[in-house]
This record gives sequence, C-alpha cells and structure tokens, in this order.
Amino acid sequence: MLLNFDALASQFDSQRGLPQPALAAWMKAVNGIASGVRLNVVEPGIGTGRIALPLAMVGHAVTGADISAAMLATCAESAAALGVGEHLTLIQADAVYLPLPDQWFDLGVIAQLLYLVPDWPAVLDELARLVKPGGHVVHLTEPTREGANLRRWSGAWREMIESTGYRHTALSPTDAEVRAEFQRRWPDVEVQELASWEFGQSVSQAMDSYAGRLRPLYMSVSDDDWRKTSDRFLQWASMEFPDKEARLEGTVTLTAMIAAV
Ligand SMILES: C[S@@+](CC[C@H](N)C(=O)[O-])C[C@H]1O[C@@H](n2cnc3c(N)ncnc32)[C@H](O)[C@@H]1O
Repeated sequence: MLLNFDALASQFDSQRGLPQPALAAWMKAVNGIASGVRLNVVEPGIGTGRIALPLAMVGHAVTGADISAAMLATCAESAAALGVGEHLTLIQADAVYLPLPDQWFDLGVIAQLLYLVPDWPAVLDELARLVKPGGHVVHLTEPTREGANLRRWSGAWREMIESTGYRHTALSPTDAEVRAEFQRRWPDVEVQELASWEFGQSVSQAMDSYAGRLRPLYMSVSDDDWRKTSDRFLQWASMEFPDKEARLEGTVTLTAMIAAV
C-alpha cells in the first residue's frame, strides 16, 4: 500500500471529515436510489466510516471491509459512540477478495480507495459479484481546486520534498478510466455533483505541527531528509507569507458516479 493508514487513522476524520451539507447531499443521493427501504450496503475500504456510518445512522445495514486494523478500530469506536454498532459489520479483508456472499447487497460504495489498489478493476469485479441485480454501485470522489495561495504553498512543498529524491505520482486511475470500467460492467452510469464547499486554514494554522501531520504520507523519506526539508520549507513559508493570517484555501466537490446494476 502506498500510504500507511494505520498511522493516519487517528487524524483521518479531523482532516477529511465531510461538512454537514455534503453529508446531507450524500444521504439525499442514497434516498434517490432507494427511498424508504432498508438497504444492505457494502463499503470496501471503509476506513473510519466517514461515508458509511451516516448510512448506518438512518438504519441501513452496513458491512465495511478494510485492510487497516487501526482504521477499522476507529470506525468501530465511532459506531459505538453513535449507537449504531448493531447496524455495522466490519471485516479485515482486501477489497479485491471479500469473504462475502454473491448478490447479497443492494448498494456497493467506494470512496478514495481505487488509487490505493494496484489491481483496482478487480475491486469493481468484486462489487459486480456482491451487488444484486436491481442494486447500485457508487464511486465517490472529492476533486479539489486550489486557490492561488494554496497553489504556491503546495507547489513549493512538492518541489522541496522532491529534491530528496521522493516523487509524487499522478493519481491513478483517472475519473475517465473508472468511468470506462464502470460502463463495461454496468452500462447505465450517471455522474452527479452532490455538494461543493470551501476548505482552508491560515498560514499560522498550516505551519503549526506541519511536519508531524504530513509525515505519515512520506514514509519513504529518511528521518534526516525529512527534518532538513521540513525546516527549510517552514523557513520559506515564514518569509513568503509574512501575514500569518493569510488564507490557504480551495474548493472541494463531492462527486458521485452512480451505476444501476
Ligand atoms: C483514503 S481512505 C478512505 C476511507 C473511506 N472510504 C472514506 O472515504 O472515508 C482509504 C482506505 O482504504 C483502505 N485500503 C487500502 N487498500 C485497501 C485494500 N486493498 N483493501 C481494503 N481496504 C484498503 C485503507 O486502509 C483506508 O482505510
């Protein structure tokens, strides 16, 4: 796996949580698929349950699979805190082979997973096996557009961290590749933009414990290179953004690719 989600589990929800209007739009989209019916839902790569727990909260029966024990533990804790544990089944399993019965589910959901799985079309094959005819498969993405300050900030960081030999790779698969694979399995596919929202923080907030928060994303960089690069970056940031209240902002759009099975 490219990223160490065991190390990211404790901070995932605070960094990636969906705002309330986006959650409401997601719930509305699921209602549009099957209003008033209790669905059997499966989410491979469920993580902390950011996407699936709201479905359990309105009574759908959710089965989540993940390869990270820490993400599953965080998900189970949140489910218990929300009082929805009885609507949730969690298994530690690889999304390309799920020990779950054929055609058992009404809804298969994937979000922020395919780029982590080298053989990602095999995840769609599993969903094609698990979701019954008449059901749906949804791929949720959250494309972001960076504002000018944030573009400058992340461009400088990328350049500095890449000077250690680390290489960012373009996210794969692209939306067009996923859509093509969806359409090969389920010809009836539509894409809906569910919600857009601004995200951002001040320069001083971004600088605060910057290196610690990013470290799990760059485990292949040596400790020495990490320390030197993060020190250099923070010096750069301090000079380039003398106004520490300047905002680093962007826009996220929660987008659903929905296929009828
Ligand atoms: C970016 S998180 C997204 C979690 C959740 N879907 C969401 O959107 O909030 C990706 C999750 O996929 C899990 N994962 C990565 N590769 C996997 C695989 N091959 N099988 C199952 N889970 C996997 C990671 O452990 C992590 O919890």
